[in-house]
Amino acid sequence: MTDLVIRNARVMTCDPKRDGLGVIEEAVIAIADGRIAWVGPEATYAAGRSSAVIDAGGQLVTPGLVDCHTHAIFAGQRANEFAMRAAGAGYLEIAAAGGGINATLGPTRAASDADLIALLEGRLATLLAGGTTTLEIKSGYDLTVAGELRLLRCVAEAARRPGAPRIVPTLLAHLVPPERKADRDTFVRELVLDLVPAVAREGLATSVDVYCDEGAFTLAETTAILTAAKAAGLAVRGHVGQFADLGAASLLADLGALSGDHLEQIDDAGIAALARAGIVAVMLPGACVQLRLPVPPIAKLRAAGVPMAIASDLNPGSSYCEALPIQLWLATTHYAMTVDEAWLGVTRHAARALGLSATGVGTIAVGGPADLVLWSCREPAEVPYRYAANLVERVIVAGVPRS
Ligand code: NIG
Ligand code: FE
Repeated sequence: MTDLVIRNARVMTCDPKRDGLGVIEEAVIAIADGRIAWVGPEATYAAGRSSAVIDAGGQLVTPGLVDCHTHAIFAGQRANEFAMRAAGAGYLEIAAAGGGINATLGPTRAASDADLIALLEGRLATLLAGGTTTLEIKSGYDLTVAGELRLLRCVAEAARRPGAPRIVPTLLAHLVPPERKADRDTFVRELVLDLVPAVAREGLATSVDVYCDEGAFTLAETTAILTAAKAAGLAVRGHVGQFADLGAASLLADLGALSGDHLEQIDDAGIAALARAGIVAVMLPGACVQLRLPVPPIAKLRAAGVPMAIASDLNPGSSYCEALPIQLWLATTHYAMTVDEAWLGVTRHAARALGLSATGVGTIAVGGPADLVLWSCREPAEVPYRYAANLVERVIVAGVPRS
C-alpha cells in the first residue's frame, strides 16, 4: 500500500547511478511514509493499492530544489543601496558610507523573536512556491555571541513549525561589527572560545561558515574560527574570493570543507585545492550580477572536476531573491554552465554542499525523501529558458503536497 503514486511523469532523478540528469520517460513514482518506495518506467510498475494518484500529464518531475546558501534570517531591507548601486556606487563604497552588512545589524538586533520568525516564514513560503524544498540558512546579522545564538534558535523554531521546508542551519562569522573593530582579536577569541562551542553544544547548526575576504575576516582569523568548528565536531565552509583571493581555498581543503562559495576570485592553485579535497564550488550568480563582479572561472572549475552548486544567496544586500529558477537562468547564460550542470547545481550537488549526499536529498531514488517538484513543462532547459514564468505546478515535501 502506498500513500501517493505519481504517474505519467517525465522524471529527472539526478541519481548518480544514472547518466546525466537520469531522466526516466513515462515513469511512475510511488511514495510511502514520506519516502520514495519505487521509481521507474510505467511499463515495469506492478501497480498496487494507493491512497492517492496524481497524473503528471507527461510533464517534468524533479527533485525538490536545494538552496545551499541563504542568509534568510534578517530584518529590514536595503533598497536604498540597490538604488545607489544602480547610480554607479560600488559595494565597498556603499559599505564605507555605513551601508552593507552593518546596515542590517540594527534592524535585526531590534526585531523580536516573533518578528524575525514571521519574516523568515514569509520568505520560506516564497521559496517553497519557487520549488525549494531544502534550504540552508546562515546566521550572521547580529554579530554578538548571544545574538547569533538567538538567530539560530529562531531558525530552529521556524524549522519545527508545520509546513516548513527542510532547513539546514549554519553559523556564519560574517564580519567584525563596528563596535568591536577596536578589539577585533578579543571578538575573534569570543567566537572561537564561546560561540562555536555553544552552537555545537546546543545543536544549533551543522556547519560554520566564515566570510574570508577584504573588509571581513583575514585568513588567520578564518583559520582560527574554522579550526575551532572542526574541533567542536561541526562541518566547515567558506565565503571565499568574492572580492579578493586571500588564499582560503587551501585552508578549506586542509579542513575537508563541504563548500567554497562565491569564487569570483580564485587562482589555479585554489581550484586545484578544491578539486583535491572534493569541495563543492557554490556559484551565486545573482549576487555576482548585482555587484557587477567578474564571472568565476567556470571552465577551469569544470576541467578540474570540481562539483558546482548554484544558490540564491538570499540576503538583503547583494541578492534579495528567494527563487532558484532565475539562478538557473543566470547560471546557464551569464556563467555559461550547461543545462545539466545547472540542474545538478540546484539538486544533487547542492545537497552535497550541505553534507546531505547520503540522505538522498536532491535526488529521486528509492529510500530517499519524497521531496518533488511537478513542472508545467517537459524539457529541463525550459525552466531557465522561460525564466520569468513560474513553471512550478506542485511542490511535495516528504510525500505531502504543499501546493
Ligand atoms: O554572500 N558576502 C557576504 N555576505 C553576503 C552579502 C550580505 C549583505 O550584503 O548583507 C553575500 O553576498
Ligand atoms: Fe552569502
